[in-house]
Amino acid sequence: MSLVIMHNSQIKGLIFDLDGVIADTAHLHYKAWCKIGTQWDFNLSIAQNEQLKGVSRKDSIIKIANWAGKRFSEAELDAFALEKNENYLSYCETLGTKDILPGVYEFIKSSIDAGLKLAVGSASKNAKIILEKLEILDLFSIVVDGNMVQNSKPDPEVFLKGAETLNLAPNSCIVFEDSQAGILAANNAGMISVGVGQEDLNNCTLKIENFKGLTPKQLITQLSNSDHK
Ligand code: BG6
Ligand code: MG
Repeated sequence: MSLVIMHNSQIKGLIFDLDGVIADTAHLHYKAWCKIGTQWDFNLSIAQNEQLKGVSRKDSIIKIANWAGKRFSEAELDAFALEKNENYLSYCETLGTKDILPGVYEFIKSSIDAGLKLAVGSASKNAKIILEKLEILDLFSIVVDGNMVQNSKPDPEVFLKGAETLNLAPNSCIVFEDSQAGILAANNAGMISVGVGQEDLNNCTLKIENFKGLTPKQLITQLSNSDHK
């Protein structure tokens, strides 16, 4: 692939969020949170769920309890988070290659062929389990997951750790994200942010609906033609 200059830097690495970017799992997280909410007679709305995307399990349970007007001890919150995760993992049991979001596998393959380095940067502590189920764990040089960071998105830690491990400067990396918190994390890391999905996302460098038919070369062209130069 021809060399690409952006931010006075060549693009050398791609960092993918997992849930809602690579894997069709966002609805399973939502289903599992709704089940916890139901126990509290609380209906978690789609809009509220948007605010949970990219947010760690612990921070999510705290937010939901606040929205539900519930007060729990630390131990109770941990127990609810554990229960949510057990339900979530049971919903994930049947996950396989069919649950890779459209065009993602082809895009990843062509990115590797183009010589780009690939990482995953996810808040999920289950990231490696899910990638194994999707049979694509081996395609990434590094998976930075929720077990490896102290701070939730929009803190840039997860993406900075990914770039550092790939031995790349932040401004030579593109981040793909479906959550507002993740877009802010990418921007805070000084990376190019590509929003993915149907939802409105503010402040991303570029927005795409999905990866269908997209090649890394086309992406770079779209980025060059966007306001971002
Ligand atoms: C993010 C999801 O990727 O990971 C959130 O967008 C989820 O919905 C978070 O809560 C933490 O995931 P897990 O698998 O560690 O509970
Ligand atoms: Mg996501």
